[in-house]
Amino acid sequence: MLTLKEIKLDDQRVLIRVDLNVPLQEGKILNDFRIRAILPTLEYCLKKNARIILISHLGRPAEGEYTAAFSLKPIAVRLAELIKQPVRFVPDWLGGVAVAKKEIVLCENVRFNLGEEKNDAKLAKRMAALCDVFVMDAFATAHRAQASTVGVAQFAPIVVAGPLLIAELNALHHVLDNPKRPLVAIVGGSKVSGKLQILKTLIPRVDTLIVGGGIANTFLAAIGQPIGDSLHEPSLIPVAKELIEFARGRGVNVIMPSDAIVATGLLETDFKHPIIHFRDIKKNEKIFDVGKATSRAYEAILQKAGTIIWNGPIGIFEMDAFGEGTRALAKAIAASSAYALAGGGETLAAIEKYGVYKDISYVSTGGGAFLEYIEGRVLPAVAILEERAKKR
Ligand code: 3PG
Repeated sequence: MLTLKEIKLDDQRVLIRVDLNVPLQEGKILNDFRIRAILPTLEYCLKKNARIILISHLGRPAEGEYTAAFSLKPIAVRLAELIKQPVRFVPDWLGGVAVAKKEIVLCENVRFNLGEEKNDAKLAKRMAALCDVFVMDAFATAHRAQASTVGVAQFAPIVVAGPLLIAELNALHHVLDNPKRPLVAIVGGSKVSGKLQILKTLIPRVDTLIVGGGIANTFLAAIGQPIGDSLHEPSLIPVAKELIEFARGRGVNVIMPSDAIVATGLLETDFKHPIIHFRDIKKNEKIFDVGKATSRAYEAILQKAGTIIWNGPIGIFEMDAFGEGTRALAKAIAASSAYALAGGGETLAAIEKYGVYKDISYVSTGGGAFLEYIEGRVLPAVAILEERAKKR
């Protein structure tokens, strides 16, 4: 892929596809990680005297109409604060955007335009006509083949991969293809079905696989452990058995929790949260977090790791009563000297909650894109950049 450093930016109209899809509540930004992640790209373009036009989506509005709740306007305000210069917000931009040297404009949500999600060629051509150079820097949207990610890259005069996109791909490449051993993956989250392909691709690569959350419950059921009334997927127990066998055949350690924090429900006010061994779980009890012995075991593994991949929380960490396992895991990853890569929406929320961002080697901005890359799928917005580079 062609990169920013290889092309002239001075006085050029540089259209940058970024991912500013941040969590918002009544216009208030709950987490600005994705906005902060594009600052180095903008700083570089400003230094090179570019005319900067930013495009992004926000949420999933109904296409073809304006919905105030999905407007990028509040993001322009926050971006201006972070980049310490004005960011001009442009509601109507498809007809053309006048932008001065060293100016930054942010266009309204690309998903308000009919044809964005279907990658309509006419729409993509109008986007491409806005610029001299198109920069794809939205790693977190690289798994979407849409007008602002793929179509525009087909038609823009020059297309390059942005620094954030490259950093993300490098981090993934580093852990998956060239890891310092032992490589430990932690796959948490609620469902085996959602992470099946990830588990299949990771097992042949890792030395140790730690399963957590609802996924661990299905795995525990597969080895015959009682799990009470815990969330799990009975239909996937045979699959979990196969995965355990697959891992065993490859000499991979699959680590499941050895104790748990249980309760009969999340809404009770008077329950205690006993730490138990699985043999003691009652029929009406649910596992909501791992227990202390499990956390200590994870810490010992992570301390000796050479490389760590982390995706998914291992308990209901949004509730402090069931967050201790995820907190201890986040702290253990942060304390480890291993190269650690973490990604996925909920993982990011846990990293922010426990304040470990600075001590994790690379935190991905990607949710779905991060998972699809690990699954070994081609990211269409990356594929088009490669294709364009070949044709040069
Ligand atoms: C994400 O948050 O994963 C990306 O911004 C993509 O958003 P989407 O799933 O709505 O396409």
